[in-house]
Amino acid sequence: MTRSMNRLYSTSTVGSKRWSHVQKGPEDPILGVTVAFNKDTSPSKINLGVGAYRDDNNKPYVLEAVKKAEKKIFEANVDHEYAPIVGVASFNNAAAVLALGEDNSYIKEKKITTVQTISGTGALRVAAEFFGRFLPGVTAYVPNPTWGNHNVIFADSKVPVKSYSYYNPSNCGLNFEGMIKDIQAAPAGSIILLHACAHNPTGVDPTHEQWKKISQVCKEKEHFVLFDFAYQGFASGSPEEDAYAVRLFVEDGHLIGLCQSFAKNFGLYGERIGAFSLLANSAEEAAVLESQLKILIRPMYSNPPVYGARVVSSILSNKELTQQWRSEVKLMADRIIDMRTSLVKYLKQHGSTKDWSHITNQIGMFCFTGLTPEQVDRLASEFHVYLTRNGRISIAGITSKNVEYLAKAIHSVTK
Ligand SMILES: Cc1ncc(COP(=O)(O)O)c(C=O)c1O
Repeated sequence: MTRSMNRLYSTSTVGSKRWSHVQKGPEDPILGVTVAFNKDTSPSKINLGVGAYRDDNNKPYVLEAVKKAEKKIFEANVDHEYAPIVGVASFNNAAAVLALGEDNSYIKEKKITTVQTISGTGALRVAAEFFGRFLPGVTAYVPNPTWGNHNVIFADSKVPVKSYSYYNPSNCGLNFEGMIKDIQAAPAGSIILLHACAHNPTGVDPTHEQWKKISQVCKEKEHFVLFDFAYQGFASGSPEEDAYAVRLFVEDGHLIGLCQSFAKNFGLYGERIGAFSLLANSAEEAAVLESQLKILIRPMYSNPPVYGARVVSSILSNKELTQQWRSEVKLMADRIIDMRTSLVKYLKQHGSTKDWSHITNQIGMFCFTGLTPEQVDRLASEFHVYLTRNGRISIAGITSKNVEYLAKAIHSVTK
């Protein structure tokens, strides 16, 4: 620092203006929905913006399997020592096994590195930082539309980001031809981000046949495939069915990257528990990759928190608790599927002749309704129903008590 700069920084006028160039940033659109919902005093109000599961009484749900695991952890009188940089080893192994399957050869032969992360967002951030460092200048392609954080995470990690066609607004389904064309047109060796299941925000997933074609095209173009797996078990109710795409790509020989979140399927939102894995050609390569992941993680957050990892690993290492978790994740998925069916039933019952089949064809917590921004505004002002202006609803906000009211409201603004 020069002497004149020193003088500048020591003056109180400069001190008082230090942050004067910082402008207020825009609010997150989803938070905006919740703010508007909280202000509304109507007893009929419905919040369809939240990205967290709610039970049929609109309450957060703590899984019984989680409660039992917590009891076991408490009774074991564990200490609070630091985890290693890569996190809790038993959790990392359980996470990889859950995604890739019991007898996956990469796990058996240690041709994989898995690091515990700060939930799914942290997994994506670690992945993006790794690409920024070791695949410099390589563009990441994300679906259009995608979860709002994807673009920002890549951009903040200095990874160029572009999108590929995904959603077809004319039938509220998949623009499969467009998707394939764009993935084919991307420069060879690009990073292709795929939502493994329950695409957020559209709820539109490829079929098994379509996944096969996507895998083939990615293979031909030697693209690096990064799966964002935030909803395993939560989409169909079966962790295996939801892992179809991930396991198919691995069988097809892709050395994938995998970001997992345990927020939704274990109801551990605030515990921030996730994992990032990279498949490798050999155990030696996996060890090399892990050494660099450690170097990257250490200055970011040193090492991850242990609590969520302990909960998930005690469930997945115990047959009875795993069984209980499976039945509870199915219960959550089934409630979501039931609400989709119910909403369509009431829309028809109240006289809507529109085609609402996309509501039941789509899967997972979110549904792209096809409602226009103006219709969304009317839902809020006339019916106290709140959602983002892109027409996305969180099915978790629907209950057996409010579904008919919601159907009537949607019918009113769409007829
Ligand atoms: C597609 C997708 N990826 C990742 C995440 C990450 O969530 P979390 O950081 O809470 O695990 C979410 C959460 O909404 C998501 O929808």
